[in-house]
Amino acid sequence: MITNKNFLKMTALYLMVLIMYACNSSNNDVFAEEEGLVSSDTISIQEALTILASENDHTRTLYTKNVVGLGQKAGLKFHEDWQKEDVEAGPLPALFLRGTSREIQKTGVPLGLYLGSDYPIVKANKFVGIQDEKFQKIRQTKEPEFFYDEENKLYTAMFPDFAAAAPCISCHNGHTNTPKTDWALGDIMGATTWTYPKATISTKELLTLIKTYRESAAKTYETFLAEVQAFKTTAKPEITNKWSDEGYYIPDVKTFMNAVSKESSPLLMENLLAKI
Ligand code: HEC
Repeated sequence: MITNKNFLKMTALYLMVLIMYACNSSNNDVFAEEEGLVSSDTISIQEALTILASENDHTRTLYTKNVVGLGQKAGLKFHEDWQKEDVEAGPLPALFLRGTSREIQKTGVPLGLYLGSDYPIVKANKFVGIQDEKFQKIRQTKEPEFFYDEENKLYTAMFPDFAAAAPCISCHNGHTNTPKTDWALGDIMGATTWTYPKATISTKELLTLIKTYRESAAKTYETFLAEVQAFKTTAKPEITNKWSDEGYYIPDVKTFMNAVSKESSPLLMENLLAKI
């Protein structure tokens, strides 16, 4: 569990990195102007999307285990139709990801996020064209794929999505709309797919993407909390700084996002420092 002290330490370190970045890039600019040098303050989109994929993995795992997993034990429901008026439930992890993706879209930042498969429950999640070709390669190598999608003019990164826990396969195999009923543990069930229109970005642009991702996840989480607050027949859990294993609680947005930040910031910082 995250303590305030640790969080402050983490935030202070994080700010330090940001300041170092700001200084570093302005120095570069000065050198570039004075000596006619071109700033090397850039990162490949492959590296940037890999960092974002790791942010997303941490967020999804935390949401799946600590919000959905613990919440279900405390008596809360999570459903694919969670946004329908008569359904009093939270979003399934795949829908939390889609919510985040929609929030990113609303910001106008051209970062695409999509969870697809070759045997999807929902037809709109089926890979087509080059994404399907690359996904078949991922099935063989079990490694991510990075490529330029000529048709959509987008740099694309696809990361395998493994059936890591029993509920993945039992829910998918038993779903009325699934085209495949023999998913097994460890199978690659799909791929988290990211797109961006540029081959390289500045470190500042990378920070903007990470911030956009985190804010979009937080907004999606807030939509879930709003749904909980509007429960009519289900008993409303208390929205507080505690997790559902301590009682009939749901962590508030700050508690959830602090836990995400605590999980993903050390690796993020390592990645950022490696870029200086
Ligand atoms: C309680 C049921 C349930 C559980 C548990 C579950 N999923 Fe899903 N999953 C769904 C539903 C429903 C969708 C379709 C959501 C949509 O796009 O509307 C989906 C979508 C997906 C997709 C996109 C392709 C598709 O099938 O539409 C992938 C990939 C996926 N899930 C992988 C996983 C993995 C991996 C796990 C475990 C870590 C998991 N799912 C756990 C129900 C579940």
